Amino acid sequence: MKMSLAWKWVIASLLIESLMLTLLLIKNVGQLEDNLSNQTHIRLNEQKILLQSALVAPIIQMDYATIDAILNETKNISTIDYLIVVDNENNCISSVGWSDCKNLPKIETNPFSKDSLKDERFDTSIPITLFSQTLGKIYLGFSTKFYIQAKKEMIIRSVIIAMAELILSAFLLITASKWIIKNLVSLTHTANAIAHGDYSQRINLGDSKEIAQLQESFNLMATNIENNIKNLKQLNKKEKHLSKKLKSQLEKNHEQDLLLKHQTRMAIIGEMLSNIAHQWRQPLNAITVQLSSLKLKNDLNLIDDNDINNTSDSVIKYANYLSNTIDDFRDFIKDNPKKENFSIENSFNRAVDIVSASLKNNYITLDKEKIDNQLFIDGVTNELTQVFINILSNSKDVLNEKNIEKKFIQVSSYKENKNIIITIHDNAGGVSEEIMDKIFDPYFTTKHKSQGTGIGLYMSSKIIHEHFDGEIIVKNEEIEYQNKSYMGAKFYIILPS
Ligand SMILES: Nc1ncnc2c1ncn2[C@@H]1O[C@H](COP(=O)(O)OP(=O)(O)OP(=O)(O)O)[C@@H](O)[C@H]1O
Ligand SMILES: [Mg+2]
Repeated sequence: MKMSLAWKWVIASLLIESLMLTLLLIKNVGQLEDNLSNQTHIRLNEQKILLQSALVAPIIQMDYATIDAILNETKNISTIDYLIVVDNENNCISSVGWSDCKNLPKIETNPFSKDSLKDERFDTSIPITLFSQTLGKIYLGFSTKFYIQAKKEMIIRSVIIAMAELILSAFLLITASKWIIKNLVSLTHTANAIAHGDYSQRINLGDSKEIAQLQESFNLMATNIENNIKNLKQLNKKEKHLSKKLKSQLEKNHEQDLLLKHQTRMAIIGEMLSNIAHQWRQPLNAITVQLSSLKLKNDLNLIDDNDINNTSDSVIKYANYLSNTIDDFRDFIKDNPKKENFSIENSFNRAVDIVSASLKNNYITLDKEKIDNQLFIDGVTNELTQVFINILSNSKDVLNEKNIEKKFIQVSSYKENKNIIITIHDNAGGVSEEIMDKIFDPYFTTKHKSQGTGIGLYMSSKIIHEHFDGEIIVKNEEIEYQNKSYMGAKFYIILPS
């Protein structure tokens, strides 16, 4: 069983008090002994003077009757047990209270020595001298009964007082501890109630200064806890509401992402169709022209086997070409996210295959002299090709829109500080400053709704950042073409290798 704090405190206090009282008692007994010993010596000195002056004359005169009378008189003092007078050769002259004169007592120096206490008597002697000449000695037995009694009484009295003091202390300590513990118990109950969720609990411990301070601090703490819990509950509510909102926002974002993905795909297909149209325009024209001329010759009856053979060969050649371009486009549009180490130049050439006809039909010169054919990178080749197509198509659009006379796009690639850098620079005048930091945002376009969706550069930057760990930036820089200087947008694709 655990001992209560109050009892521990009472017992410890009483033990300390008992120890201190014992030490005090020991000290008092010592002091009493010193005092009594001093008193004994003072009395002995008094006796010494009296007896010496009384006995000198009878000893010289050998008046034994007087000596006996003096001894008998002195023996009446209650603290004197015996008296023996001896001459200077230690021969017993007279004795009172001592039976065996031949056997003289042993002299003691301390009235509280072991022997003195045992036989309740202090044996001492007083010399009898006259003008420095020793005449004899008085042996004297000084009773210590009275001292022993005094010491006993003092010890008993001290013990009684100490016991009374201890009882009183115990009573006071128990009362005080009960009072303190009462507050502690109240404090514990309240703290327990708060710990179990009853935050409205407060304590009332009375109005003494220290307790009032404790009470104030405790109640303040309880109030703070109550307020904090309230705030936490509110926060929790808010958080739940927020997380609900966040969830629905995430769902919305997901839908938005799906939509964007779909739109991106549609944009790619749209771009491809426009490029196919360009690619097919010339061969379809050629086929139409050749078949028309064959028909005309037939109408005029000028046709021969050679014409038929030549025309069909040529049409087959063009049809094959058309079929091949369809394959190229299909290959590109097909989802083929195969990661490999591919050549930057090849990836760019695939883009050129797709946009070249469109560039040519719009009279745009593409300079790819500065492409380094030794550069390779890990990733999905079609994705980088898509980025090139987007940038080249944008240049084509702006060159047409601005109606630049000599349309020019210059491409370069090189390695710099462990990065592969690809630049695509046109001479269409550059991106205007107001929209410079918006062109990579989704749905940002300066084109008419039917012309652009604003997805091209957003998609390109997403591919470069997320799939190649790289960066895409744009700067307006001057470009030389046919001895003339132009301003134009220069896109930098920076790929860590
Ligand atoms: N080479 C360039 N020179 C000047 N402005 C450009 C150039 N390339 C892009 N821009 C500007 O950046 C805008 C955003 O281009 P982005 O490719 O993202 O969308 P878009 O071309 O308008 O539409 P689409 O989704 O069909 O590509 C363009 O509308 C255009 O204003
Ligand atoms: Mg675009």
